[in-house]
Amino acid sequence: MTTSITTHDMQSLIMSAFEFRHATKVFDESKRIPETQFETILETARLSPSSFGMEPWKLLVVQSPQKRELLREFSWGANGAFNGSKGQLGTASHFVIFLAATDVLMRHHSDHLQNHMKEVKQFPKDVIEFMNHAYQKFQEHDFGIEGRRQMTDWSAKQAYIALGNMMTSAALLGIDSCPIEGFELRKATDVLSSAFGINTEQYVPCVMAAFGYRLDTPKFDKTRRTLTQTVSWF
Ligand SMILES: Cc1cc2nc3c(=O)[nH]c(=O)nc-3n(C[C@H](O)[C@H](O)[C@H](O)COP(=O)(O)O)c2cc1C
Repeated sequence: MTTSITTHDMQSLIMSAFEFRHATKVFDESKRIPETQFETILETARLSPSSFGMEPWKLLVVQSPQKRELLREFSWGANGAFNGSKGQLGTASHFVIFLAATDVLMRHHSDHLQNHMKEVKQFPKDVIEFMNHAYQKFQEHDFGIEGRRQMTDWSAKQAYIALGNMMTSAALLGIDSCPIEGFELRKATDVLSSAFGINTEQYVPCVMAAFGYRLDTPKFDKTRRTLTQTVSWF
């Protein structure tokens, strides 16, 4: 098969997705993302890669204004405190909380992983056995992932891949977004447990993201290190 990708195609990818995307602080409240488009964005999260294919994440789409308000007090990166607006929490068309699976689910040989390999991956018994050993070696020896925080952070690293895919696909659809880590982890975990019915022994929040349509053009030009400063070739 011959490739027919042109310079124009490559420039258009950069311009329409990566130059277009910026961390949107305030969205146009009057505009809603059509459901089919948001489902497509969610699908890009679902289809994202994960280590050993274990999908150590869950997504909460928070559309209830009352539920969003429960996050406001401790979400300084999304409550508009820095610009005197209602923030991403008050203006986004769609607001997502990414949950990272804890050690309870992700530790090697856990019931959850056995079930995932059987039901989702549909692995036969001998493959599950092989995977259990490989996964244990990976956790204990290769990467040395120990304890609750490290294992949860490892899940979170993978959830961020889904986040990246969602933001890029949103941009390609002309939809704005903002990744959000500006919140107090402990308080967010407590609220998810008390008001959202999340079992926070199993899942804890790691990052949030808002989606919608920008109200204003970005205040600042995009600034980045150069490619030479960023990349070394060997
Ligand atoms: C993991 C992560 C967390 C972030 N948290 C916040 C946040 O809480 N609130 C916010 O307004 N922007 C947040 N940002 C946006 C960054 O500040 C922004 O991406 C960066 O300044 C570069 O600007 P640009 O995305 O517009 O190119 C976050 C970005 C990332 C990747």
